Amino acid sequence: MDAKPYLVDDGTIPQAPDPSHRDAWLSRRKLLEAAGERSTPLGCRPGVLGRLFNMIYPVFSVALRACGLYRAGVRNALDLRLREIELEFADLPAAFDGYRILHMTDLHIDCLPGLADTVATLTRGVSVDACFITGDYQEGHGGPADPIIDHLKVALADIDARDGIFAILGNHDEGEFGLALERRMDLRLLINEKILIRRGSDRVLLAGTDDVSFFYSEGADAVLASTDGEFGIALVHSPEMAEAAAAGGYSLYLSGHTHGGQVSLPGGRPVVTRLIRNRELAAGLWSCGDMTGYTGPGVGVTAVPVRFFTRGEVTVLTLRGAR
Ligand SMILES: [Fe+2]
Repeated sequence: MDAKPYLVDDGTIPQAPDPSHRDAWLSRRKLLEAAGERSTPLGCRPGVLGRLFNMIYPVFSVALRACGLYRAGVRNALDLRLREIELEFADLPAAFDGYRILHMTDLHIDCLPGLADTVATLTRGVSVDACFITGDYQEGHGGPADPIIDHLKVALADIDARDGIFAILGNHDEGEFGLALERRMDLRLLINEKILIRRGSDRVLLAGTDDVSFFYSEGADAVLASTDGEFGIALVHSPEMAEAAAAGGYSLYLSGHTHGGQVSLPGGRPVVTRLIRNRELAAGLWSCGDMTGYTGPGVGVTAVPVRFFTRGEVTVLTLRGAR
């Protein structure tokens, strides 16, 4: 990502990634990817449930086709909306009153033909201050980066974000893929890293963690431990670190991972949240202590490419100071 004058390099929070930090992270990340079990905030998990779901999905897919519901589910999955939300903060720096954030999560951009074009159409002409993407770029896990990045280039082509695009990784994203994404697209990856965004003499701190549902490490806790006295926004793939971010003084926490349940009960109540903790934070707006959080329903889908009683979205969040 090109250097931007409104990103602050104050000597303690460098604007550019620290190569030694990135090298250490990548070494650890590759070990976690090879481990065959999930590293979570609650310790290592064997991933039995995931394997069980992988056996159930084909049966679910066949059942939907037999009932004639499969095509309706696919149509639902492509029926994305742009949702506008206004959020009020007593401690928002004055220059950020009206700051507009385009939040997208769980693009899984190769899950259905036409999804990238749908995202491009929805975001075209939408002017925001920054775009935050909270992980999960592909439907599967691993594999070549090129086809995914080609889809993402279509989806993100017309995003008009003054301060740029900032992205974190999800549980579907391998470390090498993330670095390729940053090299080849005009975005900044935040991997257990912080950055300051400036408006005049005011500034906010933006922190992003690595995925914590499969690739948790203490680096996520370290970055969430403090906002360094600034108004803090945390990007974390799942809401499972909400308490840590609230304790660290963050004001806003943006996440995804749950797809809003993807296939939910009538009324939108999620059945499968993919969370091992904080299941009550699986969808929509929530609060944790003094912190406001939003768990987006995602853009794309995984496993069986359908939605029922949930709707994918891109979200525009407008920050407001207390009135
Ligand atoms: Fe996802």
